[in-house]
Amino acid sequence: MLLGVNIDHVATLRNARGGVEPDPIHAAYICEQNGATSITTHLREDRRHIKDKDVYTLIKTLKTRLNLEMAMAEDIQKIALEIKPHSICLVPEKRQEITTEGGLDVAGQLEKVSSFIKPLLDAGIIVSLFIDPTPEQVEASAKTGAQFIEMHTGTYSETFGTPDEEKEFQNLKNAAILAQTLGLKVNAGHGLNYENVHRMHEIPNLYELNIGHSIISRAVFTGLPEAVRKMADLIK
Ligand code: PXP
Repeated sequence: MLLGVNIDHVATLRNARGGVEPDPIHAAYICEQNGATSITTHLREDRRHIKDKDVYTLIKTLKTRLNLEMAMAEDIQKIALEIKPHSICLVPEKRQEITTEGGLDVAGQLEKVSSFIKPLLDAGIIVSLFIDPTPEQVEASAKTGAQFIEMHTGTYSETFGTPDEEKEFQNLKNAAILAQTLGLKVNAGHGLNYENVHRMHEIPNLYELNIGHSIISRAVFTGLPEAVRKMADLIK
């Protein structure tokens, strides 16, 4: 399994003082040097953390891959088509949410999702859909033309260590197997940390995990190189 590190929280900290530090571009460099195989960043409609100039710089400076998280918004689609990240991950976005709360409802808006991602696919950008691990969403995703899904691991992470963990874990495993049967590649992310990540090894052929909050939180105490190295070792 590969490790994509989400650097949005570094930008959140930078923006708290409106200055230039800590610099998310520097953070991305450190992540790459310590085992990250891609850098994920979410250009939100309200630009609350990552700003346009960050993604324009990242696309020039990254040595690995840029995975741009984005909602179905035309202005962000325009930026994606201009900078051409290696991949985009389509997520739902609500203005008031603290973080991405649930998966994208692909089944409920199949036509809309398919036509939104078409120009991105035509431009050679790999498209991933961030969905809840249900058969309905997986089957719909397979019809859109996207090459990847990213399974939302938030509910698994929240229930980790409780009686509901097993059910949520099986939902992830079954969704991954179904997706692969339908020709999709499978990533996962949200809420994964140094304790709950180990069960991802039980899911066959997961390609990449996208992890942000737990790594940046740990980095406050250990430093970013150590925090990334430790997670990269756990998922290798
Ligand atoms: N994947 C997606 C699609 C996300 O929206 C997020 C959160 O921004 C993550 C992964 C990373 O989640 P976390 O910060 O909880 O590790």
